[in-house]
Amino acid sequence: MPTALVTGANSGIGFSFAQVLLKEGYKVFAVDRHVGDGLKNLREASVGELDVTSPDAIKEFRDKFIQDDPIDLLLNIAGVAMPREKDSLESTTIDTFEKVFAVNTYGPMFVSQTLLPNLMKSPNAKIGIVTSRVGSIGDNTSGGMYAYRSSKAAANSIGRSMAMDLKEKNIPVLLLHPGFVRSSLLPGADGPEFVDPEEAASKLWNNVVKVKGMSETGTFWHREGHELPCILTHLAAPISNMGYPSFTKTYHNQPYPPIDPTRLELSAAGRLITGAGSGIGSSAAIAFARARAKAKIVVLTGPRVENLEDTKKKIETTARSSEK
Ligand SMILES: NC(=O)c1ccc[n+]([C@@H]2O[C@H](COP(=O)([O-])OP(=O)(O)OC[C@H]3O[C@@H](n4cnc5c(N)ncnc54)[C@H](OP(=O)(O)O)[C@@H]3O)[C@@H](O)[C@H]2O)c1
Repeated sequence: MPTALVTGANSGIGFSFAQVLLKEGYKVFAVDRHVGDGLKNLREASVGELDVTSPDAIKEFRDKFIQDDPIDLLLNIAGVAMPREKDSLESTTIDTFEKVFAVNTYGPMFVSQTLLPNLMKSPNAKIGIVTSRVGSIGDNTSGGMYAYRSSKAAANSIGRSMAMDLKEKNIPVLLLHPGFVRSSLLPGADGPEFVDPEEAASKLWNNVVKVKGMSETGTFWHREGHELPCILTHLAAPISNMGYPSFTKTYHNQPYPPIDPTRLELSAAGRLITGAGSGIGSSAAIAFARARAKAKIVVLTGPRVENLEDTKKKIETTARSSEK
């Protein structure tokens, strides 16, 4: 039976993720800073108190409950945020920064560091860190949330470094964005784009954590299964399910511009089309499909995922109709 440890499991996404993993047949260590009603309801899990801001508490927990046993999946989910009005340019404080960084940034760093020997004992270990799309510097078009945003950007950076350092050990590290989720993180926050924690957790599991591995290590994923930029302005949209050719990979975090789109050839194995959400970039991508160019990989990049999705649909329609 594989073993997972989930932080922040007393409520919200962490609680729902622990339930998903129990159903998937994991032995689950479900931990939070308090053993509240959520943890008490996870009857099949081993529940415990673990404050992720305290390296001593993390070590103590490991020595007492996990010892030298292997951990197959570590999910760093614990997080805190301040209401927007308390975390603005004018209002945020050093105290807010310290509290938010302690959980969102130091937490995943030191939980992962302490449990590394246990992860290395598993032949299939994996680390997930729930950060947030607001931690993407390239995707920041609305400002605000100074402590929260920067704590998540730093967590993305930590996850990326861990991914590089753990490549040789064959331990993938995935950065996870759950989307807008109704939870106690920001009480009262709601809207048409919000989902319940159960949906966020089951989609993060099925679309990302379960299916992504070493070839995606260090990358940042939306719960719906598309890649997000950690830092730079490129947004890669995976192209899949096209009848012809087969598009399989995403392009990620390359210096701008990685390829001059006007110099694209249509015959080699891989293609990257920048600025593909609209205008010339979008037309180039569609022309590519119309020419039935053979490629194992085509990646569209641009700043707006909605536009890329639109281009992707047009390519799919074009590719299908030029096959007939
Ligand atoms: N909700 C969203 O829209 C959204 C969007 C993007 C990313 N996220 C991220 O998703 C993760 C889960 O958030 P959520 O929405 O499920 O919120 P949540 O329901 O508030 O869950 C966060 C959990 O982390 C726990 N926690 C806080 N400080 C801790 C500490 N020092 N040690 C251990 N556990 C601690 C909380 O305990 P207490 O209840 O005792 O504070 C809570 O159980 C967070 O990292 C959050 O930043 C959420």
